[in-house]
Amino acid sequence: MAFETLIVEITDHICLIRLNRPEALNALNTQLLGELGQALREAEKNEKVRCIVLTGSEKAFAAGADISEMSEKSFVDVFGADLFGAEGDAILRVRKPIIGAVAGYALGGGCELAMMCDFIIAADTAKFGQPEINLGVVAGLGGTQRLTRFVGKSKSMDMHLTGRFMDAEEAERAGLVSRVVPAKKLIEEAMAAAGKISRKSMLTAMAVKEAVNRSYEVPLREGILFERRLFHALFATEDQKEGMGAFLEKREAQFRDK
Ligand code: HXC
Repeated sequence: MAFETLIVEITDHICLIRLNRPEALNALNTQLLGELGQALREAEKNEKVRCIVLTGSEKAFAAGADISEMSEKSFVDVFGADLFGAEGDAILRVRKPIIGAVAGYALGGGCELAMMCDFIIAADTAKFGQPEINLGVVAGLGGTQRLTRFVGKSKSMDMHLTGRFMDAEEAERAGLVSRVVPAKKLIEEAMAAAGKISRKSMLTAMAVKEAVNRSYEVPLREGILFERRLFHALFATEDQKEGMGAFLEKREAQFRDK
């Protein structure tokens, strides 16, 4: 499927999705978000795809929701259409692992999109921010909730109230990103991480996602019980026998998603 606002390539079981509206620093308009939802659904269905990397350009992952598209909308328009409701859900429905590879600006909806990935690898040029306050609105794709869970109340309030940007080093220190790499190596590093993941059992990778994401939704005791039951359940798979057997036989496991 060809897209106008995305470039999608599948190589070695990895689906690399590049946001591609360079004229607007990848601002998230209806078309881009619609195409992204479709690309993610296709990647989810495609049996060849075992991991997804979502990235932007060197200058911007995404500079936020498209302000020119939103500026004249009324409350009735945005509430009536539940603006960004379905778009936000689309990425969360993906069960395959998604790595956000962020260079340059990840602002507003761009920062929120990155935070909806399973983890973020940042280039040393990355700048994160929730500057919606400058536009007279608040975040609308989970920023006040997710950023607070990533970096704590004080930094989250600072970011949302002042609209300041956080550089890659601060983002790593604060726990927003898993690692920082030189900008020139961003895609290589993200693809290498995706390659590692794609050689695991997809069943186990999906279980990891469910368990970690559950930690945001339920009390600790429930989360721990959920994790333990998933751990137990995986003993019903051939991949558990293969993984443990391969360790004992001192060879590399060959997982078959069974
Ligand atoms: C529409 C945008 C845009 C945006 C940049 N552009 N961000 N267009 N929506 N969010 C456009 C500019 O208008 C300009 O177009 C071109 O991209 C290049 O941007 P410049 O501003 O000229 O570049 P620069 O001086 O380098 O500044 C980069 C920047 C700045 C700091 C990222 O563009 C900026 O502050 N952008 C807005 C960031 C923002 O407020 N994001 C939050 C949006 S609200 P022209 O045609 O003039 O060349 C939001 C709500 C989330 O995200 C709700 C849920 C999704």
